[in-house]
Amino acid sequence: MTTTLLTNAAVAAMTPESPYGLIADGAIAIENGRIAWTGARASLPERWMNEAEHDLGGRLVTPSLVDCHTHLVFGGNRAREFEMRLEGAGYEEIAQSGGGILSTVQATRAASEEDLVEAALPRLDALICEGVSTIEIKSGYGLDQSSELKMLRAARQLGKLRPVRVFTSYLGAHAVPPEYSGDADGYIDEVCIPALREAEKQGLVDYVDGFCERIAFTPAQISRVFDAARSLELPVRLHAEQLSWQGGVELAAQYGALCVDHVEYAKESDAAAMAGSGSVATLLPGAFYTLHETQAPPVDAFRKHGVPMAVATDANPGSSPLFSPLLAMNMACTLFGTTPEEALRGTTLNAARALGLKDTGMIAPGMRADLAVWNASHPAELSYMFGFNLLHERWFEGVLS
Ligand code: NIG
Ligand code: FE
Repeated sequence: MTTTLLTNAAVAAMTPESPYGLIADGAIAIENGRIAWTGARASLPERWMNEAEHDLGGRLVTPSLVDCHTHLVFGGNRAREFEMRLEGAGYEEIAQSGGGILSTVQATRAASEEDLVEAALPRLDALICEGVSTIEIKSGYGLDQSSELKMLRAARQLGKLRPVRVFTSYLGAHAVPPEYSGDADGYIDEVCIPALREAEKQGLVDYVDGFCERIAFTPAQISRVFDAARSLELPVRLHAEQLSWQGGVELAAQYGALCVDHVEYAKESDAAAMAGSGSVATLLPGAFYTLHETQAPPVDAFRKHGVPMAVATDANPGSSPLFSPLLAMNMACTLFGTTPEEALRGTTLNAARALGLKDTGMIAPGMRADLAVWNASHPAELSYMFGFNLLHERWFEGVLS
């Protein structure tokens, strides 16, 4: 049995009972990649007393971060579109004229699986360098069967190349590809759903996602994809009410979605529906910031109804070219008014919950020993600083990596 004892730590365990689940002068015992015990050093059980200590010098330890919403695998980039938007063009206008997501589709279709992996690795490394150990990656820039499968294989490959756990979402319902222009229903029935079945058969899918928006799909179209997900026993999640209110949250809640993401235009009744379905609200301030959005998600309504909030990068080439979970936390505080504690719960415990994971995101016995050690003494420092990486070291399943 491998045992490690971390001592001299300010442990933000993120257990729900107290602010940050903070333990002053804490210790953590790790056995075989899992947390065996955590608490104040003074109450360390005898069993670990003779163990060699890994002294953290009084530093802050949190669960390592979970980035629960990314589009990390893509071809090309959209710097030209960034310029166009600053010259006055709108995001939806660019999308309607065949740019936006579809320009990334073109570049992604043209790339090989190896190209996609090679391009995504430095982005993944940027996340890992800020303490991420678990990441969700979507398809959705292929929009034909072979390109969607290629994206999902690339995502799985990333998880083998780095000490990180990767979960995949099938996002075939992201945009209507040019060959089905004007025929969203045809695309859903003839490509999106059959490709989902094939991807599932090949073990490439952990969740099914969609984009419910006027530039993407209607609730009725998304519900057909979700019916297919249900028949495959795959959990669902949704991009909803990002640019306008479409009723996506209600639909997602009816299907018991793990999470509903963006939600800028969600109403209080949507928050109530999410509370009923137990769905997490994923806040994506990088997209809000990039698109100069002015409507912030209804954080107060989420609080009032007890909807857990996650915070993620939405790392993608168009609406959120953000590869820093720490900056996402800072933006959640500054732009959306979350507290630093909510921001950290949003990238740990609630992000794990958004992925349906019960074994990470918290420092407690039985959880995976996924830990981030920071050059900080209080957890609010993580959201307070921006453009500065406070990570000291990262433990992945009990191994310093
Ligand atoms: O989460 N909302 C839809 N899709 C992605 C980004 C799409 C893009 O612009 O490439 C998002 O913002
Ligand atoms: Fe997204």
